[in-house]
Amino acid sequence: MTATGRHYQGRFDRVFAMPNRETFKIRPIRDFLEEETPAEGLGLDPFAGNNSPALITNDINPDCKTDYHLPALEFLRQFHDGSCTYIYIDPPYTGRQIKECYAKLGLTVTMMDTQTARFMRLVKREVVRLLEPGGIAICCGYNTMGIGKTLGFEMYRILDVYHGGGHYDTLVTAERKRGRKPDRRPLSLLV
Ligand SMILES: C[S@@+](CC[C@H](N)C(=O)[O-])C[C@H]1O[C@@H](n2cnc3c(N)ncnc32)[C@H](O)[C@@H]1O
Repeated sequence: MTATGRHYQGRFDRVFAMPNRETFKIRPIRDFLEEETPAEGLGLDPFAGNNSPALITNDINPDCKTDYHLPALEFLRQFHDGSCTYIYIDPPYTGRQIKECYAKLGLTVTMMDTQTARFMRLVKREVVRLLEPGGIAICCGYNTMGIGKTLGFEMYRILDVYHGGGHYDTLVTAERKRGRKPDRRPLSLLV
């Protein structure tokens, strides 16, 4: 224990890889996804780009090869409470990246879009609503906040990918939503 709380107890790895705007093309991150993604169940990626292994993908950019091309919140709001087993969250990491992305697409940027903290609070609210107990949230960014303990998540793995030079590291977290995973076996198997 420290004055501010418990130390992080989970797995932490730090590895080098070349930077890439397409996060999931970075080899150690691709491996992380493979290792931490549940083999079954509904999985969503609201900011998928072109390289997401999620079951259902979305990206606001119509050129991306995704199932949907909606703003992330609109995409997430289509699904039922507790219906998802895993969700990837890999949004633009800064207000500047959001502005650049929207400008390229000819979209108007609102205050809500550029105030990343406010936008991320709404995204997190959707993740909390959508994931079943025991469901996995994998988040990428410049920090290890993830979805958060106060929202009922337990972080169990962090990957720090450093890129050298003046680049920021890319941080990836895996968290489990607290609670018992639903038993979906047919009742006939349980007797
Ligand atoms: C950091 S990149 C994700 C990269 C992706 N994981 C990959 O490996 O290629 C962020 C993505 O979010 C998309 N995006 C930005 N704002 C969005 C929004 N409001 N709703 C949905 N997608 C958005 C961008 O088009 C971009 O592809």
